[in-house]
Amino acid sequence: MNVDQTVSTFLDFFRERGHQRIPGSSLLPSSGDSVLFTTSGMHPLTPYLEGHPHPLGRRLVNLQRCLRTTDLDEVGDRTHLTVFEMLGSWSLGDYDHQQSLQWGYELLRDGFGIRPERLYVTVFGDDEQVGPDTESLRTWGGLGVPVELTGEDNWWSNGPTGPCGPDSEIFVWTGDGPPQGTPTSDQRWVEVWNHVRMRYRRHEDGSLEPLSQSGIDTGMGLERLLTVLQDKPSVFETDLFLPWMKTIPPLWSTDESSLRVIVDHLRSSIVVIGDGVTPSTTGRGYVLRRLTRRVLTALWRDDSSRLLSDLPRELIGHTLEHFRQSCEVSHVREVLLDEERRFSTLLRRGRQVLTREGFVGKLSEEDYHYLHQTHGLPRDLVVGLLTEGGSGPSTRTSSSRA
Ligand code: SER
Repeated sequence: MNVDQTVSTFLDFFRERGHQRIPGSSLLPSSGDSVLFTTSGMHPLTPYLEGHPHPLGRRLVNLQRCLRTTDLDEVGDRTHLTVFEMLGSWSLGDYDHQQSLQWGYELLRDGFGIRPERLYVTVFGDDEQVGPDTESLRTWGGLGVPVELTGEDNWWSNGPTGPCGPDSEIFVWTGDGPPQGTPTSDQRWVEVWNHVRMRYRRHEDGSLEPLSQSGIDTGMGLERLLTVLQDKPSVFETDLFLPWMKTIPPLWSTDESSLRVIVDHLRSSIVVIGDGVTPSTTGRGYVLRRLTRRVLTALWRDDSSRLLSDLPRELIGHTLEHFRQSCEVSHVREVLLDEERRFSTLLRRGRQVLTREGFVGKLSEEDYHYLHQTHGLPRDLVVGLLTEGGSGPSTRTSSSRA
């Protein structure tokens, strides 16, 4: 099943069961929202999960682009991405969790053809405030799916306050041979779908108040699902990443883990720029800056003459189109090349300062403070320069060839 078939199988399944498709939103939450980026499909729906009536009704479905920086250091493994897409379904005070789990099971088995023996779920055990999720335990028992109980791993919240509740995470066995172990004991169990019972609102003091209407929020990572359905070793081998994996290795040959970081971070940077962000020293702009500078660091580690201007325009265009963004390719390119120039200049200055002033080995907090305040060299950059020796840009810059 390719990416388009996978998306339409999900959307059609829920449309046939009375769900209205809502358009995906930007990565930038509406003003007044405290989070930097949309991290989950439910995020734009927060007011409706809290009880406000949604104009399209009580059953909704969509595909939402999301960005998570919590997983940044895990990018490079088989399943983690910075920008990813989430297939989501919602019941706003309509059907119950049992129905959601039954439909989930049916779609995975009959719609996506995953054999039931490859499924395992985790369910909320309990904590000091809330008891075990016995309703979900009963439902999964009735469906014959093995269950592992956990604590906070099966509690979903989008932040310290707001709507939250216990969840059931569905895992699929991806190892060779028959399934072994449990989701928490064997990494070959890959989580694909989360079904949350949005039952509470958490207050600033940590207390929980039952929501006036209990809702269901489900989210399935599209790329992980594709990895499972297409039986690929990682998200990067699925058809979704084909244009990237055909282009980048011949252009910039590197080791597998760096290749994944380059592909993920560059693709994420394009989407973030496409949603209107530019690099800066704070907030969203800083996230974008970190992403692009990590790409450049990985590129220059192997070959200091590499340039972002060599990234084909078609690949930028393909990415914007995939995420249904109307931003111009030339704008994305300008932002990337400008950041490349800034980073290159900063690195050169940093190297000169470190050599001239004899900074080597482990620096003190005072040294870092001095280098930042006096020379504008951020700590990350100094650490990189000290640990990676001479890697960095050559005197060739994108401006000369843009
Ligand atoms: N909000 C839940 C998650 O992101 C389910 O959509 O996992």
